[in-house]
Amino acid sequence: MNLTFIGTGYVGLVSGVCFSEIGNQVTCVDKDLGKIEMLNNGEVPIYEPGLKELIDKNKGLGRLRFTNELTEAVHRADVVFIAVGTPSLPNGEANLEFIEQVAQDIALAMNGYKVVVTKSTVPVGTNDKIKAIISQLTSHPFDVVSIPEFLREGSAVKDTLHPDRIIIGSDSEQAARMLVELHHPLTDQIMVTEVRSAEMIKYASNAFLATKISFINEIANICEKVGADVTHVAQGMGYDKRIGSSFLQAGIGYGGSCFPKDTHALIQIAGNVDYEFKLLKSVVEVNQGQRFNVIAKLKHSLGDLKGKVIGIWGLAFKPDTDDVREAPALDIISALLEAGAVVKAYDPIAMENFRKVFEGDETVEWAGSAMDAAENCDALCLLTDWAEFKNVQLSELRQIMNQPVLIDGRNVFTKEQINQAEFQYYSIGRPQ
Ligand code: UGA
Repeated sequence: MNLTFIGTGYVGLVSGVCFSEIGNQVTCVDKDLGKIEMLNNGEVPIYEPGLKELIDKNKGLGRLRFTNELTEAVHRADVVFIAVGTPSLPNGEANLEFIEQVAQDIALAMNGYKVVVTKSTVPVGTNDKIKAIISQLTSHPFDVVSIPEFLREGSAVKDTLHPDRIIIGSDSEQAARMLVELHHPLTDQIMVTEVRSAEMIKYASNAFLATKISFINEIANICEKVGADVTHVAQGMGYDKRIGSSFLQAGIGYGGSCFPKDTHALIQIAGNVDYEFKLLKSVVEVNQGQRFNVIAKLKHSLGDLKGKVIGIWGLAFKPDTDDVREAPALDIISALLEAGAVVKAYDPIAMENFRKVFEGDETVEWAGSAMDAAENCDALCLLTDWAEFKNVQLSELRQIMNQPVLIDGRNVFTKEQINQAEFQYYSIGRPQ
């Protein structure tokens, strides 16, 4: 099929590339000419394992193109995917400005029947609005379908090529049939439902996963007080198939561009119909508080943090990505600076992005390696579970630090490793 993806962010770019990989003719459009030039020059604007290889391959095969010419790309397409951002407004609601603009642009560019698919995460009812916008501006036939995206950053290519499920929200049988056929090479687990249910499935899924994380983080906080080990508790719970073992890793809470944004948006969606989503409000509150446990543990160990040198390992919101949006490290470093500490920070990939969005004190020292960040520190905080940190020789680490205090915000190290290296070690929800 001929497919056009509008928006070359995570969702648009990865989906477009993966659909070219399974044999479709794909055009990716973005109004940001800089991005298009980068992609045409063989550079990839995001860090995502395996993506560059697939781009090079499919561009070479003539199945993948990048352009800022939307009209021409819509003309060529059987299916047009909308994959532009829906950032949060100050009140938490999703900002639909970009979606609405793209809907107008598509309508004005139509030259025959098109299926318009919304991949962006949008509040319930948005696809009806898109339909209304398009029908006002064109007399060509079209259908609007919701196919929410479930890929994770860091494993986006794998998640897209091997999804757990595909949800197709369509009120048109013809469009649903075309899209089932398009997705069939990826999985048999395809569910066709109404548009509004598909929109809700996306928010409900992210809210549920965020709830699992805040739940296990609170269990971890209790474990610390009663002398239990949250990793064992999560393992034991996970054997129950009804609970499942994933997303029960305690730590310093979730970050990223999705869970924080989508939980706030769902609270707003509920609020707009006079429903107070109390559980989800607590999930958000617990998550915000969880990151500051790192500061509490530092104070418990070092006392006043004024003038203390603190090393930070990991700035990205999770490993294998350079994304620092809503990363716990942003708040943690701000709090450390406010307390008068000297901060030395390191991340394998996300350093540059972090410096761009971090509006804190520029006295932060940006270290060139994990060991550099730890050298002469009074304490070291691990905030992102990059593999690089797991493989460090703890005995060597101990020798270069001023004091052997290690705060492991992601429960990366085992008791045996720590005991051998004789660190003063604090993790999350495990006995010290
Ligand atoms: C999340 C969802 O997992 C995807 O299914 C969804 O498509 C995506 O949001 C989206 O809406 O676009 P992502 O934000 O890339 O994906 O990252 P996750 O791997 O889900 O991790 C989110 C955060 O939760 C990270 O900060 C991670 O450290 C944290 N987390 C995750 C935990 O603290 N504990 C866990 O057990 C799992």
